[in-house]
Amino acid sequence: MSEELVLLEKTPPLATITINRPKALNALNSEVLSSLDQTLDRVNEDEEIHVVIITGAGEKAFVAGADIAEMSEMSPLEGTNFSRYGQLVFKKVQDLKKPVIAAVNGYALGGGSELALACDFAYASENAKFGVPEVTLGIFPGFGGTQRLPRLLGKGRAKELILTGKMISASEAYEIGMVNKVVPPDQLMDAVKEVAMQIAKNGPVALSIAKGLVDVGYDIPLDDGCVLESRSFGMCCATEDKKEGMKAFLEKRKPVFKGR
Ligand code: CAA
Repeated sequence: MSEELVLLEKTPPLATITINRPKALNALNSEVLSSLDQTLDRVNEDEEIHVVIITGAGEKAFVAGADIAEMSEMSPLEGTNFSRYGQLVFKKVQDLKKPVIAAVNGYALGGGSELALACDFAYASENAKFGVPEVTLGIFPGFGGTQRLPRLLGKGRAKELILTGKMISASEAYEIGMVNKVVPPDQLMDAVKEVAMQIAKNGPVALSIAKGLVDVGYDIPLDDGCVLESRSFGMCCATEDKKEGMKAFLEKRKPVFKGR
């Protein structure tokens, strides 16, 4: 039997998704994208999973981009469909009901940087490298990079990366706000799991709504975002989690959230 291209390790309340194609530095071909797509559906519906971690197999790469061999043969229509499918899978990462953290353990190039950008935030190992080198191949980022990079870094920094195609170190990525933390390689998963557990202790409904509010609110006027926030806040007041969280505080005990 062929090896699975995307692995799912479930350790409730966490789940780790590993892109598992280390011989090709975890490059994303259509098959890998499809497996990732299906794995995301599984974790989204699994109530035991509260926070998701995405990483790459092996010690060298998170994801070294979309698969160049596959793209080299694509017609314009196939290229459009491939780009659109990658965008939709990464949007699924962004829209997952639960927080998603990228554990960037090596090269995160092209589609790899774009995958990290679709996660809620990223931690990286000191040996990680970021970049969108597509222009060196005569193309440009096609899995959302031209859109998410400027939103995260501002237009000038995004254009510098996109137009030069240069690779940057994990510490440079940290300085410009592409990753939240950089740690030695052997400490990466512990650091990510620590912050994931800190998140997982909180009310799942509130996490899900707050995550969505940041993403949706970022692209609409401030006043509209605030209206959406107060409506969502009111809705959150109807949850069992809200009753439990506040009751636990008043009773000086830890809350037991049920995600309802
Ligand atoms: N697609 C397909 N195969 C890839 C790949 C990719 N993106 N990246 C690496 N590989 C393969 C290599 O072809 C090689 O395979 P073989 O052993 O069969 O020759 C194997 O992985 C190991 O790679 P290298 O021998 O190149 O390893 P290295 O240590 O010398 O270099 C690297 C590492 C700098 C990351 C280099 O592999 C590289 O530059 N990779 C391509 C990075 C890139 O351009 N990514 C952007 C892709 S385009 C994209 O992502 C478009 C989009 O937005 C939709």
